[in-house]
Amino acid sequence: MEINLSGVIIMFAMMISVMGISEGRLKVGFYRNTCPDAEAIVGDFVRDAARFNPQVPAFLLRLHFHDCFVQGCDGSILIDNGAISEKLAVGHQGVKGFDVIENAKAELEFVCPGVVSCADIVAIAARDAVAFSFGPVYEVETGRRDGFVSNLTLANRMPDSRDSIQLLKQKFFEKRLNVKDLVLLSGAHTIGTTACFFLMERLYNFMPGGGPDPSINPNFLPELIETCPPNVDINVRLPMDHDSGNTFDDHILQNIRNGFAVLQTDAKLLDDPTTKQIVDSYFRFSNQTVRPSFEADFVKSMVKMGRIGVETGPKRGEIRRVCNAFNN
Ligand code: HEM
Repeated sequence: MEINLSGVIIMFAMMISVMGISEGRLKVGFYRNTCPDAEAIVGDFVRDAARFNPQVPAFLLRLHFHDCFVQGCDGSILIDNGAISEKLAVGHQGVKGFDVIENAKAELEFVCPGVVSCADIVAIAARDAVAFSFGPVYEVETGRRDGFVSNLTLANRMPDSRDSIQLLKQKFFEKRLNVKDLVLLSGAHTIGTTACFFLMERLYNFMPGGGPDPSINPNFLPELIETCPPNVDINVRLPMDHDSGNTFDDHILQNIRNGFAVLQTDAKLLDDPTTKQIVDSYFRFSNQTVRPSFEADFVKSMVKMGRIGVETGPKRGEIRRVCNAFNN
């Protein structure tokens, strides 16, 4: 009887331990045994698409941010479920790159069906997008499951280009990202472009009674006005990192310091003593201090962002067959 009881206890302990393991967490190389070529396949699709269209890396980096900030990194932004689709939310305006994710998914379903989540494909693609743009190469954690919800109302707390620095900090804190993460992740604007749409208020209606944002460097203002004149087609685009829009580097922070920020929220990083000090820390150092690395710190913040609200383990979420639809 005693032996049986201890046998039951051992069995129970083993079950808990197996459940514990299978509940899982994100980890580097999650697909090493189940789909060893998963990351390479995604990388091939990212590179092919980026060679065809140099804007693709920026699309993919932004896509990961927008996925993670609504319902966690669960591929919810990829779903097409009619008028309520999350991707139609105002806060997701201009988000692109869905086709690259869908194409990689199709190949992965062919090679290892039902294994690799769409949320992970987005995270891997963002990593490869940074590397393709000559940014840091880092190990990406995987093991996310795809979510069951897509509703545009859930995106109403997306950071907005007109948010105050206080509100941006608040929105990042809600995702367990701190003020340093806010600065570093804003540094993602080292690649990519923005539509004039997001600049019009900053250029022409910033002050009561009209006028530009006084924080714009006077040497930069004429160039911005020339690209986005008052009657411009608001879809005209310009690089967010002046003079270095296709390369991942710390020029974005230098530009922000010098009044060459294009987005209002990037400029506002100088409005707050803490965020300003973080921006400055990448440029002001004595011989005694170790020079901080924007690239290395950006990676740490990206990994943190990639953990927001993730579903892991076989009992949570699902592995979609296609990325734009739930399985049932
Ligand atoms: C801090 C809050 C943020 C705000 C308010 C913000 C806002 C914006 C806006 C308005 C655009 C231009 C969109 C367009 O015209 O299509 C943009 C582009 C972009 N954002 Fe952000 N963003 C933020 C944070 C981030 C983060 C955390 C990432 C990634 C880690 C990111 C990556 C990008 C990229 C790569 C682009 C360029 C997209 C393209 O070229 O199509 N942003 N962002």
